[in-house]
Amino acid sequence: MLKINFSRNPITQKDMSLVSKILKSGWLTHGLYSQKFENEFSKFTNSKYSTLVSNCTAGLHLACKALGFKKGDEVIVPSQTHVATAHAVSYTGATPVFADINLYSGNISSSEIKRLINKKTKGIIIVHFAGYPCDMKKIVDICRKNNLKLIEDCAHALGTKYDNKHVGNFGDVGVFSFYPTKQISTGEGGIIITNSKSIFNNIKNNKAFGIDTDIKKRKIPGLYNVRSLGLNFRMTDFQAALGYNQLKKYNSELSTRRKNAKIYCEMLKNIPNINFHPYDSNASYFIFPIFIQKNIRLKLINYFKIKNVGFSIHYARPVDFMKYYKLNKCLNSKKFSDETISLPVHSEIDKRKISYIVNIIKEVIKKNK
Ligand SMILES: Cc1ncc(COP(=O)(O)O)c(C=O)c1O
Repeated sequence: MLKINFSRNPITQKDMSLVSKILKSGWLTHGLYSQKFENEFSKFTNSKYSTLVSNCTAGLHLACKALGFKKGDEVIVPSQTHVATAHAVSYTGATPVFADINLYSGNISSSEIKRLINKKTKGIIIVHFAGYPCDMKKIVDICRKNNLKLIEDCAHALGTKYDNKHVGNFGDVGVFSFYPTKQISTGEGGIIITNSKSIFNNIKNNKAFGIDTDIKKRKIPGLYNVRSLGLNFRMTDFQAALGYNQLKKYNSELSTRRKNAKIYCEMLKNIPNINFHPYDSNASYFIFPIFIQKNIRLKLINYFKIKNVGFSIHYARPVDFMKYYKLNKCLNSKKFSDETISLPVHSEIDKRKISYIVNIIKEVIKKNK
């Protein structure tokens, strides 16, 4: 029987040899590959500055800190996201205010943003859900008019463009994730991009204890000063090497993901009771989300398990419905959570595998008519 994994394992023998070389070198962090990966990332996204972090959550936390969010402030976040987006705001003492989303892109609704702005609002964090670009023209305009800071949570969006510009460059800061299911992975890991020198310096200091002198620039080992209450959110050099190697090959992965998404759209278009966001050539397709009635979704999930088809759900509970936040207010997001299922779209999938998956969907729908 065909076995289809939800995400691919991108690590090759060549990657393992490189990691092993770095491990043997004894120089495990602050190394050459961290710099190489950061430079390559800036080139890929066309951003002025990039700095690696231990994961995207840490990056979002640093970004919120750098933008000065604090107790008494409100920051608008989408309800349909990973809890990390909202937690990043809460860590600073500010309050995340949940905005509902558009069906079926999963992206934050700009009219909802407008409705939620008040005197306390200091910023917005958007998420380019599944790799679909948000409506940046409207969102940037809202931020300008209301003097709001903008963070782009690009955890799903490596390779996503809007108006020919890589996402992450529209706001003050963009943050990416290299968690194993993502388009490229370093195990745990993330990176921050910005085009502001002062934000970059702030984040670079705060990701390493608030230390003011780079390890390679210290005249006397250990001699540095600390000017802020920093954290330790660095990435190791062997992880950076994994990321660097994958980024070098990423254009081919990206074009296969887009090709696969197109095939899904074509094959799913005449199936009744299935919804999905139309094909978007600017999207980077972290996943391919489809929507199906809640009771049929359960049957599909069980059938996928029997048939060895990997899938996931992003996200089965909106963040404002989590016990920690318990506001239970974003109803589009709730519908999305109840009906969505994330299909694999990575480069180990091809037309034959997509056809296998789509036939399973057809069978389940037919049985449950
Ligand atoms: C939208 C979004 N933001 C943030 C995160 C957190 O990323 P990380 O696991 O790298 O901390 C994730 C995780 O998958 C995510 O999907």
